[in-house]
Amino acid sequence: MNNFTFYSPTYFVFGKNTENEAGHYVKRFGGNKVLIHYGGGSVVRSGLLDRVKASLNKENIKFVELGGVKPNPRSGLVYEGIELCRKEGVDFILAVGGGSAIDSAKAIAAGVVYEGDFWDFYEGKPVTKALKVGTVLTIAAAGSEGSGDTVITKEEGMLKRGAGGEALRPVFSILNPELTQTLPAYQTACGATDIMAHVFERYFTNTKEVEVTDRLCEAVLMTMIKEVPRVIKDPNNYEARANIMWAGMVAHNNLVGVGREQDWASHGIEHELSALYDVAHGAGLAVVFPAWMTYVMKHDINRFAQIAVRVWGCQMNFANPEETAKEGIERLKKFLTSIGMPINFEQLGAKEEDIPQMVEKMGLGENGTIGSFVPLKNKDIEA
Ligand code: NZQ
Ligand code: ZN
Repeated sequence: MNNFTFYSPTYFVFGKNTENEAGHYVKRFGGNKVLIHYGGGSVVRSGLLDRVKASLNKENIKFVELGGVKPNPRSGLVYEGIELCRKEGVDFILAVGGGSAIDSAKAIAAGVVYEGDFWDFYEGKPVTKALKVGTVLTIAAAGSEGSGDTVITKEEGMLKRGAGGEALRPVFSILNPELTQTLPAYQTACGATDIMAHVFERYFTNTKEVEVTDRLCEAVLMTMIKEVPRVIKDPNNYEARANIMWAGMVAHNNLVGVGREQDWASHGIEHELSALYDVAHGAGLAVVFPAWMTYVMKHDINRFAQIAVRVWGCQMNFANPEETAKEGIERLKKFLTSIGMPINFEQLGAKEEDIPQMVEKMGLGENGTIGSFVPLKNKDIEA
């Protein structure tokens, strides 16, 4: 196991009706004037936004609002949010929605207290200072409710990039699984795929003897394999929704990733797909991950055979572990197909002829690499 530090100070409020406590927690964490930030309207239609506003009113907390965050959130609205917060003297950002609303809220939070262009953070400058962010989550997926990360797309050149820093971890996150019951099956499945992908990025490592985190990763994956088909069949299954919602947090606040090298090549590759085609992040990952696994499998057949046996329930073929490893990848593909995810370019609506352009946009240059399990060069990514 490698040395590590782990600090995850978010206060989680989990369960039914908890969105009505939003005002209480904003007050508790010192917010006086709030920007409520949300997406394309699902929180308006469901009545959630009204309930959140009522809970702020109850605590006499003033607020302004800014909706319209798109999936794959854009920089334009971030600039607008920064300006609004400065003009209105906002000191707390409350994101109500999914990863996109939360990531956009984090970008605004970092930008308001920074003199330069907020995009600097997405070109590698670490975020050390930001307004406090709280969240009311409506989709189990990105894990942004417990992470210090944010991903934004710059309209100019459609560059999708990530930024991070401890200052961006939400001070509180409200997780009511009931709020996810209005999700269309496709969005539920996209979110589930992203959750599983966050585990895969950590599971495939060159670090030896990371038993606790291996087993935690496996637990999250097995939970998803059990619960996702249940909610696809019955969207109102509260218990299954609850397990998935907590799995989404656990998968990405880095509890299952400490002490080990992590990969993240597949996320980097996927961001090019969602930047070019504006597809859901989870759908892009469903295409990239099985392909990545097949490409790098030989690097550590035993690790791939291990996940096949422990997570997918395959029989170990001791004479030929590669067969077991391949069987595990096949079961992943079958699972993704069964929940309605695309698993190839055609199903995603991506085009082979666009590959060189996407690889080029990643900006690795001739000798650069991405990923650490197997560092990939441009020719590997193309393959
Ligand atoms: O915009 P609205 O109208 O709210 O609709 C959203 C959106 O169309 C809808 N939705 C959300 N909750 C709903 C609902 N519809 C009905 N009922 C509900 N309860 O679902 C659609 C997707 O929402 P979005 O916020 O985009 O989903 P997600 O949470 O998957 O976020 C995706 C973004 O997060 C980034 C992705 O790249 C992508 O841009 N990521 C962020 C990470 C982080 N900050 O740590 C890590 C991830 O790896 C990921 O890259
Ligand atoms: Zn992801």
